[in-house]
Amino acid sequence: MITISSVQDMKNTINSYKMKGKSIGFVPTMGFLHEGHLSLVAQSVIQCDITVMSIFVNPLQFGPGEDFERYPRDIERDRRLAEEAGVDLLFYPDVTELYPSEPSVKVMAVDRTDVLCGASRPGHFDGVVTVLSILFNIVDPDKSFFGQKDAQQVAVVEGLAKSLHFPTEIIPVETVREEDGLAKSSRNVYLSDQERKEAPAIYQALQLSSKVYLQSGRMAAIDHFKNELLSVSGELDYVEILTYPELQVPSESDTRLIIAAAVRFERARLIDNIIFTTE
Ligand code: PAJ
Repeated sequence: MITISSVQDMKNTINSYKMKGKSIGFVPTMGFLHEGHLSLVAQSVIQCDITVMSIFVNPLQFGPGEDFERYPRDIERDRRLAEEAGVDLLFYPDVTELYPSEPSVKVMAVDRTDVLCGASRPGHFDGVVTVLSILFNIVDPDKSFFGQKDAQQVAVVEGLAKSLHFPTEIIPVETVREEDGLAKSSRNVYLSDQERKEAPAIYQALQLSSKVYLQSGRMAAIDHFKNELLSVSGELDYVEILTYPELQVPSESDTRLIIAAAVRFERARLIDNIIFTTE
């Protein structure tokens, strides 16, 4: 595995792969890797000749008071895990390399962002689509891999690729979970022992509530979720049932839906979702 920190070296290296007719798969991450990230790598290794991973904790997508400074980082461990998983090229730029000065142009995500995390983290998805536009320009991937754990991110990034005509296919990959159902997340390390015991209740409640939806409708399902979560010390940020990937309030005829929730624990805000069909 080659590690590169400079934008120019990345462009040259990507160019040399392209000259040889190699297809490029891209896995953008913020590091502190776990099996969720590595499942994206596994898909890229299957589907593409060369797998590129980026590790970059993007300041633009963190709001004031969020966890940018204390976002977990361990580059040596990440390098080892990435190499073992089959990453060929690791892009690990400094903040000053990607943003040498305050950007004079930023990208704004105007669709699918007024709900869920878009509503509770204003500006977050603008930061995500801005950094991804920069990374897509540098890596020029044939396919880009994103986890369904961040289902709204997948929906927004599909809009980004389509609206700005990035010639990359967005490939969603299923959520990887702990044995007790908790979605793997870099932020899980910030749960206390007690919170870690409680956290699987989020996924359990999502599963139960999606079934309640099918029998009793949207409000009953949302109420059911809230009741199930009463045993958890974390504070419910949101729970919503929407169409997927449009993220609109569903009508009777909509068949592909998402139930998504965010829960704020003492030091970590966790999100999870299930995409389900009503047919
Ligand atoms: P990060 O949170 O590091 O996640 C990188 C990728 O891993 C995302 O596509 C995310 O959905 C996926 N992922 C995280 N946990 C997962 C799990 N349990 N199962 C499957 N996939 C999982 O998402 C970001 O970084 C950033 O917003 C980024 C896209 C890199 C832009 O800065």
